[in-house]
Amino acid sequence: MIRLEKLTKTFDTPNGTVVAADKVDMEVPSGEICILLGPSGCGKTTALKMINRLIPPTSGKIFINEEDTSKQDDIQLRRNIGYVIQQIGLFPNMTIEENICVVPKLLGWDTKKAKTRAAELLDLVGLDSRQFLQRYPKELSGGQQQRVGVIRALAADPPVMLMDEPFGAIDPINREVIQDEFLKMQAELKKTIMFVSHDIDEAVKMGDKIAIFRAGKIEQYDSPDNLLAHPANPFVADFVGADRTLKRLRLVTAEEVVNADAPAVARSTGAGDVARRLASEGERIAVVIDGDHRPVGYVTADEIAGSTGDVGDLAHPLPASVPMRADLRAVVSEMFAHDIMWLACTNDEGRFVGVITQPAVTAALRATYTAPAAGAA
Ligand SMILES: Nc1ncnc2c1ncn2[C@@H]1O[C@H](COP(=O)(O)OP(=O)(O)O)[C@@H](O)[C@H]1O
Ligand SMILES: [Mg+2]
Repeated sequence: MIRLEKLTKTFDTPNGTVVAADKVDMEVPSGEICILLGPSGCGKTTALKMINRLIPPTSGKIFINEEDTSKQDDIQLRRNIGYVIQQIGLFPNMTIEENICVVPKLLGWDTKKAKTRAAELLDLVGLDSRQFLQRYPKELSGGQQQRVGVIRALAADPPVMLMDEPFGAIDPINREVIQDEFLKMQAELKKTIMFVSHDIDEAVKMGDKIAIFRAGKIEQYDSPDNLLAHPANPFVADFVGADRTLKRLRLVTAEEVVNADAPAVARSTGAGDVARRLASEGERIAVVIDGDHRPVGYVTADEIAGSTGDVGDLAHPLPASVPMRADLRAVVSEMFAHDIMWLACTNDEGRFVGVITQPAVTAALRATYTAPAAGAA
């Protein structure tokens, strides 16, 4: 848990006083990722640096796991905090192994333990330790360096991570890959993370909660979905973007909108039986499934009316299906690509689980409002 209470920072400059943090109140529950989001100069980096005391606060308090950090010395404090800085910041004259071992060494780990840890972490992010441990940062691509920057902060296994635009310096495609890797890692490690970003898409993807900053103040502190569904004021609405409803598509999975009661019939079922079933259930379409319960086609009530024979022979091929785990962006994209109003949804084994309709997607975007998060500013 990280809690900020009335945290304030003013800088005296030749041009007057700058308020970089203005009585910031917020709490990040243990194991969650909170994104500090806002335009350049709004105070995100300053907020992070006050937490590990690279910048002394002007006033206010910082608690980590209920402990007032002003009572701890710098070493005690930073032992519990991993820090990923904005410009990666690997030491160019040290090998990757030496870079990763900096903090474990400071903490007095024995060399063997630190080296083992370095190798494990590299392998964890898909960098072959035998290949990379003895290289120098300049021999790595930007994306590889960024991975090393993140695992260096994780090396001593701190419960709290501060990450300042950790994926900012890489191209969009690699950024998506690293974001996905990081989320997978976080699902296991469950660190308490403050993560700075200026990118709403990254924030929505990575954050359990998002704090929108403006000129040192929090404008809204909320779940990504509530933020997009109910921006608290025009500044927030403008910042999240006019396409905020579309952005919500990535927050809902196919599983959450699938109609599991949609009729499914075996290939060998007679058309007459299917027609009667559709009439009694008030449905227009039946999905035809094979012996392994995979969707293979569909029939409509209109077309099979009066037909004889098996629906397996009368079925149209399915234009598209999506896995249950897909988000609604993928669902809508398939619907538009194939110009269809519904599609079949399958589980991990490819078995049919139901259908998703366009009206169900629209309804999902209208609903899902929950009360603002506790501790909202
Ligand atoms: N060391 C400093 N001296 C004077 N002003 C500073 C200093 N560090 C940051 N600032 C000012 O504080 C404000 C917040 O900066 P910063 O926290 O770096 O913003 P962000 O990370 O959101 O871009 C800015 O107006 C910046 O110019
Ligand atoms: Mg910054």
